[in-house]
Amino acid sequence: MANSFDLTNLLRDNIRKLIPYSSARDEFKGEASVLMDANENAYGSPLDRSYNRYPDPLQHQLKLKLSGIKGVPARNIFLGNGSDEAIDLLYRAFCRPGIDNVLLVPPTYGMYEVSANINDIAVKKVSLTPDFQLDLDGIAEAIDDNTRMIFLCSPNNPTGNSLRREDVETILANFGGLVVIDEAYINYSRQKTFIQELTEYSNLVVLQTLSKAWGLAGLRLGMAFASEEIIEVFNKIKPPYNVNQATQELVLKALDKLETVNAWIRETVTEREQLSEELRKLPFVLHVYPSDANFILAKTTEPRQVYEYLVNKGIIVRDRSKVELCAGCLRITVGTPDENKMLIAALKRYP
Ligand SMILES: Cc1ncc(COP(=O)(O)O)c(C=O)c1O
Repeated sequence: MANSFDLTNLLRDNIRKLIPYSSARDEFKGEASVLMDANENAYGSPLDRSYNRYPDPLQHQLKLKLSGIKGVPARNIFLGNGSDEAIDLLYRAFCRPGIDNVLLVPPTYGMYEVSANINDIAVKKVSLTPDFQLDLDGIAEAIDDNTRMIFLCSPNNPTGNSLRREDVETILANFGGLVVIDEAYINYSRQKTFIQELTEYSNLVVLQTLSKAWGLAGLRLGMAFASEEIIEVFNKIKPPYNVNQATQELVLKALDKLETVNAWIRETVTEREQLSEELRKLPFVLHVYPSDANFILAKTTEPRQVYEYLVNKGIIVRDRSKVELCAGCLRITVGTPDENKMLIAALKRYP
């Protein structure tokens, strides 16, 4: 799999030829006292705050602030309605329905496959090895002329581990399509992010989200970091106002609270390690996998029974026992110290 990456070749014809929608806010960008160009309601909103105006389509202020935090130029950042939007846009821009395929490495985050199915893109699968790392030979063998993207999730959901950096680099250096690295859980990881490698690899797209460590899942803000050319493609095909005004304002405020977020991350990591220790002591827990994320994968003797028992106690974990390589496994999100104590107390009473 020699790297012959060429973005223009990868782009679907219809997207290359597309004349994008030009919104009122695209056409007039200056200061004005009377806005009569966008068919908004000039009277205001029936709320304490006004949301009667359309938001900035390209979220300039937000990108500038994120650029400072992430150390990546604003022109290399795309913001979407969750990372799920970025995943969908990647399929729509680069994969021809009924012709192209993507490569997934299960067990991994389910949306890559769902989004492929929605977009009528074939999925090739090369399972992770038993220690949840990449099978590089299998991947090299599975790739064909129509393989447009490879999705790698690191730290991986649901297994919790990070992928070996050298393996990811091997794929980046050799695959001629896009390598999408989903770093939704990177803040909890011992591994460093790939967002500083954008200048090194033109085929790299890194996804991050404010839904995890930043505690903003309800606001829906996902980020994609990539070359300027790839970001331009995202901007060309995205819905014009994909990040709403409330989200843009609230996220700007939240980004001032880096210290609070860092304290939560440190506490979550400490709790994760303690919770893992406690889980290992339980007689029905066969294995607790090491985690670089804010959740733990634990192999049990009877996952469904343990899951149901916890539901009856009002504690909900995720039964992943039907997922490939995850037989017997429950996935447990790290909670607050009190919640973690409640979980362990309940599990110690498991009959
Ligand atoms: C690996 C991974 N990527 C992306 C997401 C979704 O992110 P967002 O809330 O930004 O759409 C999740 C959510 O569970 C996830 O586990």
